[in-house]
Amino acid sequence: MAVHGNKVSKRRKLIGLILQSNKSQMNSNLSSLKKFEPERENLLEEIIEGLSKPQKELPSKLFYDKKGSSLFDEICNLDEYYLTRTETSIMNDNIEDICSVLGMNSLLIELGSGSSKKIRLLLSGLQSPAGYVPIDISEEHLINSVNILARDYPDLRILPVSADYTQPFSLPKFDFIYSKKVVYYPGSTIGNFEPDYASEFLNSVGNRMGKGTGLLIGIDLKKDTKILEDAYNDKKGITAEFNLNILARLNSELDTDFNLDKWKHYAFYNSKHGRIEMHLKSLSDQDVHVNGDIIRFREEETILTEYSYKYSVDDFKNLISQSYNLEKVWTDVESKFGILYFTVK
Ligand code: AVJ
Repeated sequence: MAVHGNKVSKRRKLIGLILQSNKSQMNSNLSSLKKFEPERENLLEEIIEGLSKPQKELPSKLFYDKKGSSLFDEICNLDEYYLTRTETSIMNDNIEDICSVLGMNSLLIELGSGSSKKIRLLLSGLQSPAGYVPIDISEEHLINSVNILARDYPDLRILPVSADYTQPFSLPKFDFIYSKKVVYYPGSTIGNFEPDYASEFLNSVGNRMGKGTGLLIGIDLKKDTKILEDAYNDKKGITAEFNLNILARLNSELDTDFNLDKWKHYAFYNSKHGRIEMHLKSLSDQDVHVNGDIIRFREEETILTEYSYKYSVDDFKNLISQSYNLEKVWTDVESKFGILYFTVK
């Protein structure tokens, strides 16, 4: 299967290779790891392109290096950051119902599986899942978490794919019987994409996975601005650190010279567009070197690092109605977060 990339990436071609993974690192119930790692040159190109726009920007996927991933884990435990805890409690409270909707013998495909922790609840609740396909951009993370999962679920068929799932990639061959595919996309990660792209991306996933495929997706719902803004401006400053870590990462991996003391975390709710915007704000006029290019910043100028869109259930249903029927919605008492189940038309 090939999922279409965004505008920036459309002209890029598939650079993935299917590699046999190091057998000693993988348990026996794991098939070979499919590998579609982005090339460094593409990343650099993407970064320079982003920093050359009128509103400078850096891709949100850069957040998740080792440091960033552990900062994100910290964010998930913050008082202000209600998303993760609310999603988890909705899952816990409705696990039987959710699993009965997913049915027996389904093949779970998780987009952005990270540490593969959320899937455990489903794996434990489901009757004999046919297999689990974790897809994650970080190969190291993937191998690690898959090995841990395999230890706890020795009978589970695990078919990991290391890929940036927004770029073209293909799924392994499924030479076993399953009732239907179910794409699991938790965490309101879809909120990172602009609605037009989110719609195109999910419709494309649906079309390629085929009619009857399920989509279990977590969506952060629209709510009071103060609650939203607090979630991205926590008192401990972890979100600020998470945001600034992008620059630290560029410095160490791409040899840029961002001075971290000259940048400040800046996040607010843009109600017109229904999204949280995270930016890094320059505290002075300054120049930064990126691979021989000089990028000039004015004082107060920002680099956009993330959008986090908030939806109503209806908005989201309409967003992907071209390819999906909404089957079921689970939410918390305050309707902070929604878990939506769709099937491909
Ligand atoms: C992982 C994309 C859902 O948008 O809330 C958390 C990332 N950014 N704090 C979000 C994030 C700042 C998060 N998502």
